[in-house]
Amino acid sequence: MPHTARLEKAHIQNIVANGYDFHHSRYCVLSITQVGAARQFLRALLDGGWVVSATASRAAAARLKAEQRCPVGIGFTFKGLQQLQLPSVYLRAFQDRAPAFAEGAYRRAAHRLADTGPSAAELWDSSFRPHTAHLFLTLHADTVAELDQAQTTLQQLAGDAFAPEGWTAAFQGGHLNHDRKKRRIHFGYLDGITNPLVNGLHAHAAHYAELKIAPQFHAPGEFLLGHDNDEGYNRWLLSSEDEPVRQFFANGSFSVFRKMAQDTAAFESFVDKAASDAPSADYVRAKLLGRWHDGRVLDATSPNQPGPDHTPQTNAELNDFDFSADKQGLGCPFGAHIRRMNPRADPVVPFRRRPLLRRGIPYGPAGGGADSDRGLLGLFFCASLEDQFEHLVSEWGNKNPFGTGIQGTAKDPLIGNHEGDGGQYDIPVGGGVNKPLTGFTPFITTRGTLYTMFPSLPALRVLSELPTA
Ligand code: HEM
Repeated sequence: MPHTARLEKAHIQNIVANGYDFHHSRYCVLSITQVGAARQFLRALLDGGWVVSATASRAAAARLKAEQRCPVGIGFTFKGLQQLQLPSVYLRAFQDRAPAFAEGAYRRAAHRLADTGPSAAELWDSSFRPHTAHLFLTLHADTVAELDQAQTTLQQLAGDAFAPEGWTAAFQGGHLNHDRKKRRIHFGYLDGITNPLVNGLHAHAAHYAELKIAPQFHAPGEFLLGHDNDEGYNRWLLSSEDEPVRQFFANGSFSVFRKMAQDTAAFESFVDKAASDAPSADYVRAKLLGRWHDGRVLDATSPNQPGPDHTPQTNAELNDFDFSADKQGLGCPFGAHIRRMNPRADPVVPFRRRPLLRRGIPYGPAGGGADSDRGLLGLFFCASLEDQFEHLVSEWGNKNPFGTGIQGTAKDPLIGNHEGDGGQYDIPVGGGVNKPLTGFTPFITTRGTLYTMFPSLPALRVLSELPTA
């Protein structure tokens, strides 16, 4: 009899379950050159407590810091699992149940991720080349010096397991401001307000009852393999004859690492032009995202400026809404980034939620000069790359928005691929009338995408102990 996995918090990598709120993250895409040494490196990470689980997160992170180390997360590309000589029964299960993972982002970029023109996979940073991208290591700490120190130790542990470029070409992310509660990203928006809550993983509903908020929790199977998703479907039901295989997948998660360069000058110039025929530049910015400068969602009762009365304090409060009271899009336009990416209870969207855990961090300096490379190192987790991440990008992000009376053709204003004429973005203003915005240019260029699987801690142990063929 096939059965579902047990949710074991102690087995789940903390970067998946909770993430870290350190100021800096570093991401290394490593290419295995010595299989035996790579496995030994994995053993050293596990034995040394570098890979922090969801139960041990705070204490373990503090201990690592005291020892001049830092918490890490680990994912593997399909190619990386092949390199480690994972037996074919496991690899076939990936090919059958997770074809996007097995194929890799590089080959799916043009048809599933709208990565064409300057975002085409052939132009991506060399770290994302499909044959050499094997292992994805995430490091988290408050300072760059701490990350340097930890990386030096990790490189010593790795010996000659990996090609040196993976270490030298590491991607460095850092928050743009130091107030953990008010982190902004390039383009000036507040981020880190929203993340899905998962049954069995996150604070119980009673915690929110005190705040008089009843958030919706997701089933673990939206993010973790081996569990039912919100629709009661479990793609990873395997018969008990395949017990080791079943255990290998249980409590793992798929991740997407996506480096997106942001052209802040192009974005600001678009906002300025649009503002000349709008209530304000803040209005334009808010109508593109769906939240005001202070994080409050746009609602139909105060469509042109943030409501005067109440400033919510907590993320839980800023999240306590859906779009059911905004059926005309008079507050939040149908095409706005957050309404597309998470329609919540939107009366105009067929009900299939496709949640993503978001753990991204900006890179490059704050400001708008054209001199520097800057953007977002997006890191997303989900249980189905096809039904979640790819669907959000290709269907919800790069096609016409849903919505009553919408004529517009613009893609997601922030992340859509605005090659060509960029289309028309409709802001509903009442009486069936839309205020059209045109003149979109590419604000974002994809510099690379990597699909990896973040195994549970026991599955990492399996990988580290595979016998040499
Ligand atoms: C440089 C690129 C991007 C920028 C500037 C950006 C910006 C933002 C901002 C400012 C928020 C609101 C903050 C919050 O609610 O915590 C947000 C929310 C969100 N974004 Fe993005 N984003 C980018 C890329 C992406 C991509 C590639 C995806 C997925 C395909 C994505 C999916 C989401 C989701 C799911 C939310 C939460 C919506 C909600 O639950 O209300 N974003 N984004």
